[in-house]
Amino acid sequence: MSTPSTLLAVKGVTTFYGKIQALRGVDLQVAEGEIVALIGSNGAGKSTLMMTICGNPRARDGSITYDGKEITRLATHEIARMRVAQSPEGRRIFARMTVLENLQMGASLDNLAHFAADSERVFALFPRLKERIHQRGGTLSGGEQQMLSIGRALMARPRLLLLDEPSLGLAPLIVRQIFDAIRTLNREEKLTVFIVEQNAYHALRLAHRGYVMVNGRITMGGTGRELLEKPEVRAAYLEGGRH
Ligand SMILES: Nc1ncnc2c1ncn2[C@@H]1O[C@H](COP(=O)(O)OP(=O)(O)OP(=O)(O)O)[C@@H](O)[C@H]1O
Ligand SMILES: [Mg+2]
Repeated sequence: MSTPSTLLAVKGVTTFYGKIQALRGVDLQVAEGEIVALIGSNGAGKSTLMMTICGNPRARDGSITYDGKEITRLATHEIARMRVAQSPEGRRIFARMTVLENLQMGASLDNLAHFAADSERVFALFPRLKERIHQRGGTLSGGEQQMLSIGRALMARPRLLLLDEPSLGLAPLIVRQIFDAIRTLNREEKLTVFIVEQNAYHALRLAHRGYVMVNGRITMGGTGRELLEKPEVRAAYLEGGRH
């Protein structure tokens, strides 16, 4: 059931790549002000769900509702205009553009109207980006690229921030900095965050609630703590895993 505080509701969503079915009827909700984590193994369909929320690929069945409006059939730019921003898998920053130019791309929705203030907000969160403001994206370290990818998404002033595997391939210290930044955004600005992660330990400690996806279906849901304590979650995603 949708409650007034539900910001995102996914109901019975299926997504196909040609004949391959990646999502098999996904239900989940994200309330305003929440951090929700989606965990699951390689190929479970996590990125597909995040991309389906953004309208590419499109859901074949089911519905996606955001801020009380159905967005299932909207174009990706219309969804972005509703203040849904994502940091996609693999960061996807513009390698030949500088840090500053990448941030400008993120702010293009508002024609750079709030650029100075919003870029200072990003630099306060990730001071390293300010030090590297004129460096090209492609020459940044992996961690810096991740910071830039999140920073660029923030420049669009999202109400819902979607993050796909922000910890992937990063050293523990950088992972902690990035997760601390997400926690700060949520606590201080009440930003709603939906995060996809294979790093179940960090993601479930960060999140208020989480879901487990297996083979295109949600198999479990609960608070981050509940999921961390479940033997099935521990066995599949924690023991011997990355954390
Ligand atoms: N462009 C595509 N064309 C065809 N099949 C695809 C495409 N993208 C993803 N798939 C398939 O859809 C399924 C779900 O992939 P998806 O990338 O969503 O998984 P994931 O949970 O994000 O995995 P990972 O943790 O490795 O990022 C996989 O079987 C994958 O091979
Ligand atoms: Mg993925």
